[in-house]
Amino acid sequence: MKKYSRRKFISNSLKVTAGLAVVSIVPIGLTKFFNQDRVDPGNVWKELMKSDQTPLPIPPLLENKSSMPNVAEFHLTVQMSKKEFIKGKETNTLGYNGDYLGPVIRVKNGEEVSIKVKNNLNEETTVHWHGLQVNGENDGGPHNLIKSGESWNTRFTINQPAATLWYHPHGLHKTGEQVYKGLAGLFYIDDEVSDSLNIPKDYGVNDVPLVIQDKRLDSSGKIEYNLGMHDVMMGLQGETILVNGAINPYLEVPSGKMRFRLLNGSNARIYEFLFSNNQKFIQIASDGGLLEKPVEMTKLVLSPAERAEIIVDFSEYKKGDVVELTNQGTGLMKFVVNEEKQKTYNIPDRLAQIERIDPSKSVNTRKFVFQGMGPMVNINGRQMDMDRIDEEVNLNATEIWEISNPTTGMMGMMGGMAHPFHAHGVQFQLLDRNGVQPPKNERGWKDTILVQPGETVRVIATFKYQGIFMYHCHILEHEDTGMMGQFRVK
Ligand code: C2O
Ligand code: CU
Ligand code: CU
Repeated sequence: MKKYSRRKFISNSLKVTAGLAVVSIVPIGLTKFFNQDRVDPGNVWKELMKSDQTPLPIPPLLENKSSMPNVAEFHLTVQMSKKEFIKGKETNTLGYNGDYLGPVIRVKNGEEVSIKVKNNLNEETTVHWHGLQVNGENDGGPHNLIKSGESWNTRFTINQPAATLWYHPHGLHKTGEQVYKGLAGLFYIDDEVSDSLNIPKDYGVNDVPLVIQDKRLDSSGKIEYNLGMHDVMMGLQGETILVNGAINPYLEVPSGKMRFRLLNGSNARIYEFLFSNNQKFIQIASDGGLLEKPVEMTKLVLSPAERAEIIVDFSEYKKGDVVELTNQGTGLMKFVVNEEKQKTYNIPDRLAQIERIDPSKSVNTRKFVFQGMGPMVNINGRQMDMDRIDEEVNLNATEIWEISNPTTGMMGMMGGMAHPFHAHGVQFQLLDRNGVQPPKNERGWKDTILVQPGETVRVIATFKYQGIFMYHCHILEHEDTGMMGQFRVK
């Protein structure tokens, strides 16, 4: 098992977030610790065989209890549990139908879905379907509280393209802790387009979810949610990275193409994913679905709550070769190539058609300004108030939202920090970042958008679902502190 040194962790977060508190305490020279443990494939394989590394856990697919066509019924139980992240060291966790994380809920576009959620915690929770386009009453935000011992039945029709979404709790001031303790699961939508593409799609075999989260494990292996001032400022970041709940696991892969669905399920950490050998990969989907065209890359940045589907080709490797997935060079998990040949997949040049929303259709431009720090974080000068609706949006209106992260005053002096903006019940298209066309992998549907210090991002959306929805920073400690607001669509 690998422990991440505090130094390495600091230099990593420094690179990505240029965090204000971090900058003030870390001499720049420490960044030389970055990138030290690149992998020599030959040796790692032998080491791996000797050590007792964990195979990558694959979350189960949740059973559909309905036998009717085009109708799906699912049961989720939110429960308290225990788990050993480190062998022999037990910690309290939370999980959906299990001890940590949750099963994958898989539905089809057009399907009528009902989900029964039973809350077996001794506190309130909610289950929010992040990225799903449904009415406010089914969204699972802070208004849809499920009391301890009670159940919530929700019902909706899927009306959006194939995508990798996720679900997690959303109680007011409680999201950070409950997600951190283990409440998060994936929600897949399939459609005719995703079914027809010649891409890997065997769940858990060549189409594998990777939920990446960082934890602060204490010496007894416990994950406590105790926030210090630094955590309130930057969000809670831990030194140990989990993939699907395991520390530095490995996955055997065939010598061919694999599809990975990455979710940054961390409270606050931003990752820059790359492979140990700088291997190229192809991004095929962003938060809300397939991209129009595959995008070749060697690095992928995901901020909290963002997802990406990527295709990695292992066909050039021979048996026993090991490729590591890293965060800026620090290993997160290993892929061990086995001999199995598999079917050939040809990633088409055109994945899906995305109808561009015409900016001239916009009837309103709203501004959202990230401000303040620590306990003062807010949007547009206001902190979350359940009794206040911040924005009224007309049903079916198309609007441009302009999200900015100015570095003025104290924030400017400290260098500012990046905030991932998310809104419920809608998928956006990015128009521009600081007036410039967004990078190719951000030209599909997005529901979470990282806004760097000094940046203004313009997005456009049509609001097709009614009810009360949240918009917020997806650094969960910021959200819980009040960097959140409400919009009502009617
Ligand atoms: Cu991922 Cu308001 O949620
Ligand atoms: Cu959401
Ligand atoms: Cu934030």
